[in-house]
Amino acid sequence: MRIFVEKDYDAMSRRMAQVIAAEIVHNPACVLGLATGSTPEGAYKYLVDWYKQGCLSFKDVLSVNLDEYVGLAPTHDQSYRYFMQSNLFNHVDIIPENTRVPDGLTKDPKTFCAEYDAYIHSLGYVDLQLLGIGRNGHIGFNEPGDSFVKETHVVDLAESTIDANARFFATRDDVPKQAISMGIGAIMGAKKVLLAASGEEKAGAILNSICGTITPHCPGSILQLHPNVVVVVDEAAGSRLKSAGVSICG
Ligand code: PGA
Repeated sequence: MRIFVEKDYDAMSRRMAQVIAAEIVHNPACVLGLATGSTPEGAYKYLVDWYKQGCLSFKDVLSVNLDEYVGLAPTHDQSYRYFMQSNLFNHVDIIPENTRVPDGLTKDPKTFCAEYDAYIHSLGYVDLQLLGIGRNGHIGFNEPGDSFVKETHVVDLAESTIDANARFFATRDDVPKQAISMGIGAIMGAKKVLLAASGEEKAGAILNSICGTITPHCPGSILQLHPNVVVVVDEAAGSRLKSAGVSICG
């Protein structure tokens, strides 16, 4: 793993965007595995700026998103499809048909999940997978549990995840209780992974993912078995790494 600790959220976002832009420049028809949430928002702003400046094009890029809430329509302002449209897709030249976000309204989740995995497989897996991380160590919506789930699946959100995401909804009761999430198989099948985190409340999850026991009770810990992971954190999220003896790139 290469680990970068950046001064603050903005510097973390810029570093993330640089990694993503480098992937696109190196391989214009790359497959990006995209994430939503507060963590990548700043990076998407940088990418949109660089696109507007003419430094970057998404015209041959394909994307698959990690997850979506069950029950939210793409037009719901807290759906992850809506997030992707408003933070990235509407502002760059990516071809709409080349973007995939799990369908939170599917009537047949089992078939949908199998087809999502088959699509990722047909692309030869993702070239660069972006990941945020939950305070409980979840990646995508792969919540802590007794085993890693390989396939795309419907997941019951952990109470702590519902608590953490309640800030985006009018009330806690409005937070969906389930999501469709890419499984560990598609994530670990990615050729490169970019794991990012910001804020003190992520410091434990980052420490446990980078050098804790590899266990489904901290899903992010499986990344220790991936051969090509870049970790970008701000100082608060990386605050427990130095004392644990983790070597830092920058
Ligand atoms: P966040 O969420 O980026 O909004 O902090 C990350 C996650 O829960 O995976």
